[in-house]
Amino acid sequence: MIKNSKLPNIPTSIFAKMSKMAANHNALNLSQGFPNFPSDPALNALVDQAMRDGFNQYAPMAGDFELRMEISEKIENLHNHFYNPDTEITITAGATQAIYTIIAATISKGDEVIIFTPAYDCYAPTVELFGGKIVPIQLKPPFYGVDWQEVADKISSKTKMIIINSPHNPSGTLLTKDDMLELQDLAEKNDLLVLSDEVYEHIIFDGNIHQSVSRFKALAERSFITASFGKTFHNTGWKMGYCAAPKYLMKEFQKVHQFVVFCVNYPFQKGFATYLKDANHYLKLSDFYQQKRDFFLHLMKGSNFKIIPSKGTYFQMLDFSEISNESDITFAERLTKAHKIATIPTSVFNEGKRDFKQIRVCFAKTDETLAEAAKILKEL
Ligand SMILES: Cc1ncc(COP(=O)(O)O)c(C=O)c1O
Repeated sequence: MIKNSKLPNIPTSIFAKMSKMAANHNALNLSQGFPNFPSDPALNALVDQAMRDGFNQYAPMAGDFELRMEISEKIENLHNHFYNPDTEITITAGATQAIYTIIAATISKGDEVIIFTPAYDCYAPTVELFGGKIVPIQLKPPFYGVDWQEVADKISSKTKMIIINSPHNPSGTLLTKDDMLELQDLAEKNDLLVLSDEVYEHIIFDGNIHQSVSRFKALAERSFITASFGKTFHNTGWKMGYCAAPKYLMKEFQKVHQFVVFCVNYPFQKGFATYLKDANHYLKLSDFYQQKRDFFLHLMKGSNFKIIPSKGTYFQMLDFSEISNESDITFAERLTKAHKIATIPTSVFNEGKRDFKQIRVCFAKTDETLAEAAKILKEL
């Protein structure tokens, strides 16, 4: 056993736990956030071709230049902000590595980092690993909105960074333009960095617009964006993503990136470089997932769950307070073992593990799976 573990209180992630329980009990797995349909064969063929073409050695440290150019163009077309592909974009092993690298490059002992809970589970441990202190702000159901006065009150002379995530996992809510303007104002006044986790940027419903930090000039100047191809192109197992940031921040990012991975795998980058040239591959994603959300919600009509439709991501929160008094963990475990459906109890992402009686389901599943899932859930 190691003395002085750097992360003494970190259990196995809830995703690993629930997926294992789903497999052990032969349950439908709506817990972890991954699609159960395939990555596009045309994209797979491009990766295959890149291997045949010999892109099997180290890629450039910041990533394939052609891919960085495509990403730069995509952001400029969507948000009217130019990231120089040469100095302001790095290809990463998924968003997780980008998040780790950003925090490693910027957070030192004693720095405070504000996160909004429920929060994706890699933020807090990574901040703690580098001696930073998490300052959580709990968002509350059913709308999980941000009270910017509360944020202002939590900012101290030690606050170095705010982490945001919109569209938000697990609540499926969005930050609005007004939210972003409030954030911009606070970040400027208090000289804060922003880590904007935008992995669900292309999964946004009901005609809403993704309010990327890159749309706000002064905010973009002090922000890192993280993105995930796995979420956008149905291949989470490839662990591919990127980070975009102004040059002075990207310089610090790359100092760390080169010693974390040096570079990420080449043939996949080559495949994405060609695939991204057709904007439909990501622009049609919102419609695709909105259909899935609507299909699932339609099937759930008349159920005993209280449901506020997700506005983005491929997650839907289900409030089970009218079904059971159990803790969300007990409820989710019982669903897996007795009813053969695995979900995520969301208290694990909350400040002090607060239990709002909400479970999260992932609807990135085939219609057959969603129909089977809704049938089980409606009987509760
Ligand atoms: C909010 C959020 N950020 C980051 C990630 C990690 O993305 P990746 O698989 O590209 O590392 C996820 C994955 O579920 C996520 O939901």
